[in-house]
Amino acid sequence: MKFGHLALFVFLLHLGLSAIEPVTATTKNPADYLSFDYYLKTCPDAEGIIQQKVGAWIQKDFTLAPSLIRLHFHDCAVRGCDASILLNFKGSERASYVSSTLRGFQVIDEIKAALEKRCPRTVSCADILTAAARDATVFAGGPFWQVPFGRKDGRISIDKEAERVPQGHENVTTLINYFKTIGLDILDLVTLSGAHTIGRASCSTFLNRVYNFNGTKRPDPSLNTSYLNLLKRRCRRTTDLVYLDVITPRTFDTVYYTNLQKKVGLLTTDQELHSDQRTSPFVEAMASQPFLFQNQFLVSMVKLGNVQVLTRNGGEVRMNCNYVNHR
Ligand code: HEM
Repeated sequence: MKFGHLALFVFLLHLGLSAIEPVTATTKNPADYLSFDYYLKTCPDAEGIIQQKVGAWIQKDFTLAPSLIRLHFHDCAVRGCDASILLNFKGSERASYVSSTLRGFQVIDEIKAALEKRCPRTVSCADILTAAARDATVFAGGPFWQVPFGRKDGRISIDKEAERVPQGHENVTTLINYFKTIGLDILDLVTLSGAHTIGRASCSTFLNRVYNFNGTKRPDPSLNTSYLNLLKRRCRRTTDLVYLDVITPRTFDTVYYTNLQKKVGLLTTDQELHSDQRTSPFVEAMASQPFLFQNQFLVSMVKLGNVQVLTRNGGEVRMNCNYVNHR
């Protein structure tokens, strides 16, 4: 095609598209305002500082890697990725009983303090948490992806709303519906659950499977017997912690999925992904194709990081991630 023809074609295409979709031109999705070069001029070292701090903490204590990834999920799962989970006051999401096992707050606080010194009032807590979750994934051996920036911090955080985050005993329909409300689909659900390839859960979150499944006073029949015995030994107290991936608990791999095939998934919500027809094809695919898992994980994490973001005047850049700014 000659250049003149090409230009005409592009022009007509543009006309055609604007005729079909007159609304989309004016109603931009907030995530469209995020960009990779958001801090390029205002805080070029931001990503480097975040990565350095996250690395230093994880080197001291590897268990912070999964905790940071989970903290990001719990942020985005309620009111979007607006750092509402970091607000620390009576009645906030963080103060809710269901948030009591969240960790990693001190990592974010330290990063924020360093960034306030380097470029005051510039880098939002929501962006810090998103980048920290990415870096934690990489340090644990997972994939790297570019994080688009420009999220603003919210001013609202309500303890009751934290209870919306799935807690491990839901059925697959509830999980699918919940993910749908935040704009994520079944593939995202199965892929992001793969984050349970690292990290731990408190015995209280699955003990019903061991002793009293669905009120039967018997163990969950879908539990592998030797795994069941192991869990009995590991859970002396409800607060004891057990690895979510019993085989390779510190490696970001697809063993989480092969565990489900062997009936050694820890949470009901993990194991059911393998037995439900809507999710099992994805579990099978991830179990047999590590490359697919790594690639889809980064795609789904970008989607998670874009959930209901606040941009431009929709929020603020907190000076301290624990508190909203004084007005
Ligand atoms: C599909 C619904 C999900 C359910 C029902 C669920 C449930 C849970 C539960 C019950 C725990 C253990 C909490 C505790 O006792 O301390 C946990 C831990 C964890 N979750 Fe999930 N989760 C889900 C999705 C996700 C997603 C989407 C991510 C991240 C992308 C994620 C990342 C993690 C990580 C990394 C841990 C380990 C945390 C640590 O070791 O500190 N989870 N999850």
